[in-house]
Amino acid sequence: MQRLRSKSVLIPSIALAAVAATSWLSLHAGASPAAAVDPAEAAIKAAMSQMNDALKVLGKGVTAETKVAALDELTKFETALIAAKAQVPASAEKVDEKKRAAFVADYRKTLLETLKIACDAEAAIADGKYKDAEKLINNKLSAQKSAGHGKFKPEGM
Ligand code: HEM
Repeated sequence: MQRLRSKSVLIPSIALAAVAATSWLSLHAGASPAAAVDPAEAAIKAAMSQMNDALKVLGKGVTAETKVAALDELTKFETALIAAKAQVPASAEKVDEKKRAAFVADYRKTLLETLKIACDAEAAIADGKYKDAEKLINNKLSAQKSAGHGKFKPEGM
C-alpha cells in the first residue's frame, strides 16, 4: 500500500517536472537549436533598432537647446550603422551565388551613403544650422531607410 501510494505521487511529479523543463526550454530560446538566431542577423537587428531609436529622437526637431543631445544621438546612429555595415544581411542568401558579392557590396555602399548624410547632419548641427540638419534627417535619412529596406531587408521582417 505504501509502495502504491509513493508511486502514485512519483509519476505525476515526473510528469510535472517534464512539463516545467519543456516550458523553461521554450522560454530560453538559446537552449533550443530550432529557435537559434543567426549572429549576423542579430547584430544587424540590434544596430538597426539603435539607429531607429536615435532617428526617433532626432525626428522631434533640433534646436540650440537640444544641440548636445542631438549630437549624441547622431553619434549613436553612426556607431550602430558602422556595426551594421560590417555584417552580411540574411537576404544575401537568396541571391544567386554569382551576384552575391555585388549585392553585399551594394548593401555596404548604401549604408555608407547613409553614414555620409548622418555626418552632414552632424556637421550642420555643430555649425548651428539646425534647419539644414532637420532637412537631412527628415528627408534624406528617411529615404535611405525606405530604399535600404526595399532592397535588403528580408521579406516579411
Ligand atoms: C536610415 C535609417 C534606418 C533605420 C532607422 C532602420 C531601422 C530598421 C529597423 C527598426 C529594423 C528592424 C529591426 C528588427 O527586426 O529588430 C531594420 C531592419 C533591417 N534594416 Fe534598417 N534601418 C535604416 C536603414 C537601413 C539601410 C540603409 C539598410 C541597407 C542598406 C538597412 C537594412 C536593414 C536590414 C537588412 C534589416 C533586416 C535585419 C534582419 O532582420 O535580418 N536599413 N532596420
